[in-house]
Formats: sequence, structure tokens, C-alpha cells
Amino acid sequence: MQHNSTREKIILDCDPGHDDAIAILLAHGSPVIDLLAVTTVVGNQTLEKVTRNALAVASVAGITDVPFAAGADRPLLREVEIAPSIHGESGMDGPELPEPVIDLDPRHAVDVIIDTIMAHDPGTVTLVPTGGLTNIALAVRKAPAIVERVKRVVLMGGGVRVGNWSPMAEFNIVIDPEAADIVFSAGWDVTMVGLDLTHQALATEDVVQRVDDVGTVPARFVGELLEFFGHTYREVQGFAHPPVHDPCAVAHVIDPTIVRATRMPIVVETTGTHTLGMTVADLRTEAPADCRTSAALELDRERFWDVIVDALERIGNPKA
Ligand code: BDR
Ligand code: CA
Repeated sequence: MQHNSTREKIILDCDPGHDDAIAILLAHGSPVIDLLAVTTVVGNQTLEKVTRNALAVASVAGITDVPFAAGADRPLLREVEIAPSIHGESGMDGPELPEPVIDLDPRHAVDVIIDTIMAHDPGTVTLVPTGGLTNIALAVRKAPAIVERVKRVVLMGGGVRVGNWSPMAEFNIVIDPEAADIVFSAGWDVTMVGLDLTHQALATEDVVQRVDDVGTVPARFVGELLEFFGHTYREVQGFAHPPVHDPCAVAHVIDPTIVRATRMPIVVETTGTHTLGMTVADLRTEAPADCRTSAALELDRERFWDVIVDALERIGNPKA
């Protein structure tokens, strides 16, 4: 896709991951997104595996003009925790994964994030993390100037009233709570697209049929991802249909009326015995004027799937 100044410039920091893969495809195919870089971080699987998966998605979608770079292979302080029970041994089990057609950028993801932000006008680049927040926290520590420079952070993670990896904590936050704390308290605008929202983005039969009807290789790839993801979510989490988390953050950047957010103070629990990694939202009163955090709570489900199907139709059948 061509770079274009009227589109929303984003850096997608991810750990593919079934839903991360769909987030990459949505960002690539959307006519209103300018995907500047894709960076990877340990999370759903090891760094090596999620990076290989990200490159496989680039092959499927014919993405050849976007830098892909690998980042942190462990959280800031804690041991690595991965999610094969949800994403399988490869981190993206289900479809056959094509060989990479592009080389990995030789830079560390943290440097790609910093360089990309600094190469664009202030206030124009949005960070969209859909994995643990290790890379973003390291970038803040290495180049604090990026906090003033980015437009905002729209992340998939957390939840106001709900957890999935523990009763009160969501996976992306709890695998590196110290990094999440750094990101939430950095002083930039953070929109948390958490489980309250993503549990409304269920890939029901009608959705799977719409994706299937697109009929292209990338659409079939998404169909196979949803099939595996649906299976593990049924077996492990007791969901009738899988919540397709990560594209919800991209959809918020595409159109904030599809994924609607409300301003509220949010902090990350880093010491709780039973609540480690909880995103604690203060709903007692209206948010103070200097509050920089928001939580997405309401999804326009129909239009969410419309933008995904539209992106897949625009990607077509690339010959990568
Ligand atoms: C998040 O955790 C990962 O398994 C998914 O890719 C998503 O980013 C949901 O809790
Ligand atoms: Ca993810």
C-alpha cells in the first residue's frame, strides 16, 4: 500500500497470534490506515515463532514495503509466559504458514519504533500494541522524547471489569505488568481496547460465512485461523465463538465510532497477590480534566466486521 499523508499512520507491535494476524491484515487492507512498521514481541509464543508468523502473514497478504522487526524475547522483569493452549505450538496453528518473502529488518524492534516515530511529523504516528507491552516500555525508556511525539497509543489489553489469564487480569498486561505500568503512566494518551470490548467481537457463524464468501487466499487463511481459534476458545475458555481481540484496536483507529471509548483514570496493578496485571479503572466520578487514559466499552459489531471484510476484499489475491 502507498504511504499517504491523509491516512492514519500506525506502528503495529504484535505477537501473532491468530487475532494479531487479522489485525495486520486489517491494517494493511484498510484504505484509511498507513501501516508504517510491524514489530514483534514475545507473547502468544516465543519471539522466534511470533516473528516467523508475522512474516508468514506478510507473505499471505503480499506486504512487501513495510519493515518487520523483532523485539524483546522476554518481559522486563518476569519469566516468559506463552499461550500455546490458545494459539497452539506454532503460535498460529491452523493454516499452513507460507515461507517468508521479505527479510526481517536488521534493527531491533525498539529502534524501529523510535526511528519511525522520529521520522514523521509530531503528533502523526499512533502506536497500536496488540501483545505484551515490553517493546513499547523499552522504547519509552530508551527515547523518552517519543512520549511527546506520538499521536496516541491504542492498545489491545486489559479490561475494566474482566480478566482472562486470571480472574482480574488480561494476558497482554499480566505477562509484563511492569511494562504495562510504564506505558499506562507515561503521560501520553492511552486508549485501552480491553476484554469488555473484545468479548463483543465474536466470530459467529455469520461472520465466518462473510469471510468465506470473499473467496481469496488471504480470506481463506483468516477462515482457517478462525476455525482453530474457535476450537481452542471453546475447549479452554468455554466460549461458543472466539473473541477476535486485536483487530478491535486497529478498528478504533479506523473509526472511533465503531469502537467507542470513554475517558477514565486507569492504572496497572504490579504487586497484587490475586490481582497482578489488573487494569484498575476509577469509575467513581467523571474523569478529571487531565486524565489521559480511556477504555473502549462499546462495539458496533456490524460495522466492525464490515471493515474487516472490506479490507480482505481490497487485499484481493496478491502474488507475493
Ligand atoms: C490477547 O492475548 C493474546 O492471546 C491475543 O492475541 C490478544 O492480544 C487477548 O487477551
Ligand atoms: Ca496479541
